[in-house]
Amino acid sequence: RTAWVLNGPNLNLLGKRQPAIYGHETLADVEAECRRTGAELGLEIVFRQSNAEHQIIDWIHEARETACGIVINPAAYTHTSVAILDALNTCEFPIFEVHISNVHKREPFRHHSYVSAVATGVIAGFGTQGYPLALQRLARLTGEATR
Ligand code: DQA
Repeated sequence: RTAWVLNGPNLNLLGKRQPAIYGHETLADVEAECRRTGAELGLEIVFRQSNAEHQIIDWIHEARETACGIVINPAAYTHTSVAILDALNTCEFPIFEVHISNVHKREPFRHHSYVSAVATGVIAGFGTQGYPLALQRLARLTGEATR
């Protein structure tokens, strides 16, 4: 079974970007942690980051044919993108939305997520630990699935 882990804009700068909010771990550290967790859970991990909305949408289209689920941190597109919501709505498997920071204690414009309307579950404010936690839940939920 394959789980896709998708990351939106500016997350390539994780570790350097506002470390007081997002911490010191890099996206490469997050990827390594996801692969470690995936190996334990019997999930193959496809890990991607893009600053471009269309690229994230194209990856969701690819995932819908091949994946057992998606873990996505849409970053700023969380709060703006009907297009990413529409793409996720074409998927029939579980979708987990992850935010490193607790968006609810930040600026009001971060309190609304388009993606939450399609998410099976949402994790916010658990730091980068949110990713492996989401993968654990995905593995549990899709344990009986055939791909
Ligand atoms: C974020 C929260 C978003 O509001 C922000 O735009 C990000 C990262 C998070 O992981 O906490 O880029 O998704």
